[in-house]
Amino acid sequence: MTEDIKKGLAGVVVDTTAVSKVNPQTNSLLYRGYPVQQLAATQPFEAVAHLLWHGELPTDEELAALRAEERRHRALAPEVRAAIDLLPLEAHPMDEARTAVSVIGAGDTAGSASVMDALGTPEQNLERSVRLFAALPAIVAYGQRRRRGQELIEPRDDLDYAANFLWMTFGEEADPVVVDAFNRSMILYAEHSFNASTFTARVITSTLSDLYSAVVGAIGALKGPLHGGANEAVLHIFDEIGSAENVVPWLENALAEKRKIMGFGHRVYKRGDSRVPTMQAALESLAAHYDRPDVLELYRALEREFVERKGIYPNLDYPSGPAYSLIGFDTLTFTPLFIAARVTGWTAHIMEQQASNALIRPLSAYSGPDERHVEGYVPTQAEREATEREAEAG
Ligand code: COA
Repeated sequence: MTEDIKKGLAGVVVDTTAVSKVNPQTNSLLYRGYPVQQLAATQPFEAVAHLLWHGELPTDEELAALRAEERRHRALAPEVRAAIDLLPLEAHPMDEARTAVSVIGAGDTAGSASVMDALGTPEQNLERSVRLFAALPAIVAYGQRRRRGQELIEPRDDLDYAANFLWMTFGEEADPVVVDAFNRSMILYAEHSFNASTFTARVITSTLSDLYSAVVGAIGALKGPLHGGANEAVLHIFDEIGSAENVVPWLENALAEKRKIMGFGHRVYKRGDSRVPTMQAALESLAAHYDRPDVLELYRALEREFVERKGIYPNLDYPSGPAYSLIGFDTLTFTPLFIAARVTGWTAHIMEQQASNALIRPLSAYSGPDERHVEGYVPTQAEREATEREAEAG
């Protein structure tokens, strides 16, 4: 029995999906058939959200309609702000964002008369997906500002998603180079097949629970440093190392201590992450824009030395961590940015799961003690008879 166990579900195909395709052999990632690097180079994030939800890139009219809807839900709702304000400033921003999504979910009472209505219709779930997509930037931006002792910034209707996100975070209009790099990062983070958080969302949806619960669960899974938390962890490592000339002694020490180097390695890609070249180009443009060659030197030195020693390649979190830092995000805000992007992929998967559902409930091989009995317990008549029947049946 035990030889059939696939620990961590490694290599197990559990369902089909039309949302994205990861091909580790060719290092490619397709969203609904389109290579992600082509989408990142040409599309606004709103168009990619539409693609993930509907299967096609939007027409001009569809994009305009989605943008109008996104703008309608951009402002931080008073009840969400009040809930965030109740949290300690030391709360991790992932916990803050998780709580905020929960508050939005509890406020949507459409399915609350009975658990039988929890999941709602596909149309309701599409509306909820757009609402969460629109609401998350204000939650993430306000979180960072609150920790810095700054005031809330209201959204701007004349800016698209990426530019408005940066506006609400920093209170100034970002340079087009920065908006472009940020937009690319959102697209690269949007979707990645059955990763841990997406699978969590699908498991929750498979019980016919609601979309918000699925997203809240997914946020919990994303927080871990083996998944989304790695972009934050990369910056902690950069801070520890300090500068490029410290890389070799730092790395030798870290490897001697058998530490995992965050931002390297991947369950699926073993020869490099398909998203890294695009994000690395964005990091390079940011380093040039902010005149910070030192960041690139450290980035390149750690990559060179680690790949040489271990043959393990960077994943998307490796370039995105320093990129977000250059833009001015606090290190603790990095993984919430991942939520804002991945909510599009999660919700596309939730709707796909709903369209062709089967309860996700695997089996386990028991490894505990054999059956034993509580001292002094007197079996009931029915139990005695059952034991006798079992004995007779051998
Ligand atoms: N640093 C050091 N060693 C690493 C490593 C890293 N980042 N990633 C993998 N390895 C080593 C493991 O220690 C293991 O070595 P061993 O066989 O001697 O025990 C081997 O490579 C296989 O790693 P494993 O963790 O079993 O592979 P996995 O497919 O389960 O793990 C990750 C994939 C992502 C969990 C893993 O690479 C990791 O922890 N990376 C760091 C966290 C990170 O960046 N996560 C973001 C993922 S997008």
